[in-house]
Amino acid sequence: MMLASSEMVKLVIKTLPKGSASRIFSDFSPEPDFEEISRNLKGVSEFQPDWIIGVGGGSSMDASKIIFALYERPEMELYDITPLNPLGLRQKSRLVAIPTTSGTGSECSWAAVISDKKERRKNELASVEILPDYAILDPEMVLKLPRLQTVSTAVDAITHAIESYTSTWNNPYSDALAEEALSLILHNIKSVLDNPDNVETRNLVHIGASMAGLSFSNSQIGMAHALGHAMGAVFRQPHGTSVGIFLPAVVALNSINSIERFNRLNLAFPAELREKDLQSSLRKLFKIIGQPLSLMDAGITREQFDESRDELVSLAMESTGMLTNPYEASTEEVEKVLEECYGK
Ligand SMILES: [Fe+2]
Repeated sequence: MMLASSEMVKLVIKTLPKGSASRIFSDFSPEPDFEEISRNLKGVSEFQPDWIIGVGGGSSMDASKIIFALYERPEMELYDITPLNPLGLRQKSRLVAIPTTSGTGSECSWAAVISDKKERRKNELASVEILPDYAILDPEMVLKLPRLQTVSTAVDAITHAIESYTSTWNNPYSDALAEEALSLILHNIKSVLDNPDNVETRNLVHIGASMAGLSFSNSQIGMAHALGHAMGAVFRQPHGTSVGIFLPAVVALNSINSIERFNRLNLAFPAELREKDLQSSLRKLFKIIGQPLSLMDAGITREQFDESRDELVSLAMESTGMLTNPYEASTEEVEKVLEECYGK
């Protein structure tokens, strides 16, 4: 089990069958790198669990996926976790994921993002075999989620739904999930922020976020994630905040050849939030809920930005999100989006 955060973990332990032995592994920073994961892996291998339960936000659940894979196959290298490589997992254990945020969708995705702090980058791993056996969506687990995290994780989920729907890998299955996910989140997020203790609306956003995760797991993400991962790695900003800063500008650029799809998604906004196009509706919502609209809003100084610009561009260009983005953007266009998103 990951994440020490007391109340949630107590809740999970309380529900384990009587007499079951459990051990908590929680020696992680918010976005663990491989070194931290390896530190915990040793204890997991000694304990020999038959179930691994990842409790937490996206990085905790991602870390539990990697620990699960490497506990199963200790001789394997981290980068053997790829979609094309049969791993033969589930010889020793099964994996459960219990999200304590409503956003990442990691509980129902085949992906795991791991930080490389030395190289200042985020590595994207994926395999159907690291998809959890069970995902438990319980709104009790997000009732105490602070406002800032509620916003940034909801923005992440909104980005998943939009990028999945317009990815070059979109399909009727991922479309249906994305449309419903977006509608659930957009119609309930304001009310969640006004009344954070309301289990019903929390539940709807929680389910919406998971559906958005399921959607992009069956399609793909795009350029807002490519830029967001770069920004998260360089400036250590929360993932949802990072991808959200780029989303409206990326939608505007991608509208060059996906305008019909973006217009359809704009209809998911409740009338009082809906503007003439999707990027304008997003900006209006983000302003209301407190999602930064630019890197400057997020506290990045002009000097920091100028110093890291080339690094951000090259990290974004090599991200998998660029491969399935609906518009094939050139390096110059990515630079232009970055500059625009710095803010004035
Ligand atoms: Fe994301």
